[in-house]
Amino acid sequence: MSTPHNRAEKGDFAKTVLMPGDPLRAKYIAETFLESPRLVNDVRNMLGFTGTYKGAPVSVMASGMGMPSIGIYSYELYKFYDVENIIRVGSAGSYTADVDLLDVVLASKAYSQSSYAKMQGGADSEFMYPDKDLNGVIMQCAKDSGIKVLEAPIHSGDVFYYQDGFSKFKEINKDKGCVCVEMESYALFHNANVLSKNAACLLTISDSLVTSKETTAKERETSFNDMIEVALLAAAK
Ligand code: ADE
Repeated sequence: MSTPHNRAEKGDFAKTVLMPGDPLRAKYIAETFLESPRLVNDVRNMLGFTGTYKGAPVSVMASGMGMPSIGIYSYELYKFYDVENIIRVGSAGSYTADVDLLDVVLASKAYSQSSYAKMQGGADSEFMYPDKDLNGVIMQCAKDSGIKVLEAPIHSGDVFYYQDGFSKFKEINKDKGCVCVEMESYALFHNANVLSKNAACLLTISDSLVTSKETTAKERETSFNDMIEVALLAAAK
């Protein structure tokens, strides 16, 4: 069995998959944190690995960037590979001075103007929600390991480079409560909803739209490791 985008066999993925955007991040997570990781997908270099964490089977697979991309890969994992839980682990830009570079955010809901949910399954809502229980497990794991995580609404945008800059973020922060922006969770949460599966999204703040500051690659690696630890602890529960 395979799909147009995944050469893995049925049974190659664990019930829980961590999903970074970047394939090399997937490789780094697998090689750094998993015991006995094995490559299960490399179609289009969208690398997927399965191994164990603290003895529990866990997979990690890249999603690519944007909602069409995570839409394809998460749908196939849920529908054809019997994956039950996807925890996205990504980066985000902060919309507020209250949320600093390197802070870790867990999405309580994702706001978007994207047509993904409407086109995919007729869902006409500007908010999509993660699984409450999975979020609860993640917050408990964060608490147990002493890693600070803020549970808050996020924005899933379709545009990274705006022609005339992006001052609208202030409005989205004020009107919708979103504390940061990424580009995938709204589609991931929708797919999980229509397929009766579970999804969550952990984000590390990599840049600020308020101050225009950005983290260095080294800083991102360290704080990323905190986020991964929380996600893996939750995956192994
Ligand atoms: N991911 C990280 N930073 C981002 C930003 N500023 N906009 C959209 N996605 C992001």
